[in-house]
Amino acid sequence: IETELSDGPLTGKRVLVTSGPTHEPIDPVRYIANRSSGAQGVALARALASRGAEVVFVTGPASVAPPAGVAVVPVETACDMLAAVEAALPVDAAIFAAAVADWRVTSASDRKLKKSKDGLPVLEFAENPDILKAVSNLEQGRPSLVVGFAAETNDVLDNATAKRLRKGCDWIVANDVSEGTGIMGGSENAVTLISEAGAESWPRMAKSEVAAQLADRIATELSGS
Ligand code: CTP
Ligand code: CA
Repeated sequence: IETELSDGPLTGKRVLVTSGPTHEPIDPVRYIANRSSGAQGVALARALASRGAEVVFVTGPASVAPPAGVAVVPVETACDMLAAVEAALPVDAAIFAAAVADWRVTSASDRKLKKSKDGLPVLEFAENPDILKAVSNLEQGRPSLVVGFAAETNDVLDNATAKRLRKGCDWIVANDVSEGTGIMGGSENAVTLISEAGAESWPRMAKSEVAAQLADRIATELSGS
């Protein structure tokens, strides 16, 4: 299916966005998840597409529906997400808005665990692949711009600045998701954009407005490449 792309500052640019939570199965009916709604990722994909970008939207099981006019790749687990991201490359920019589960259950059962027969379950975990770090460190075909998100509950600036260096990405969009901010699951976001040039704190605004501003910055950055 040919989707009609709008004309804009990102026309001709291919952009990958990851979004939503991932689900890590425990057995066929149970999983480990997180509170990400996918709202910021959806807003970003929409803002990028409306500026003319060809958007590949790799999303975990989110509560907010994906925007029209993007190529949606639905995934469940972090490992699925890595495979989908690798398949989407090469891209001009990659934006990692997903809340990827840090661990998967290696002791997952292929049949439903029964409380009477199996007793208290003991789960064993392995660390999931770090998708942002893998793409940031590609020797061949690294996107010109790699952007990560850092949802923190404390020491936001320090944690996010260290995270940018550890991951090797170009920008980190940091936010405070501690209880009381209402950001996780809410319609607003207050972010700090961290790059090599330093940290820039933006006022609290609608997630759609954060997305619009980020998309404009991404367009400016890519216009040189
Ligand atoms: N990310 C990813 N793959 C993972 C974990 C995280 O691509 N396995 C990406 C997220 O999409 C986000 C960024 O990395 O853009 C930071 O995620 P975060 O969970 O804050 O970082 P972690 O390295 O997992 O550190 P923490 O221990 O704080 O969770
Ligand atoms: Ca994490």
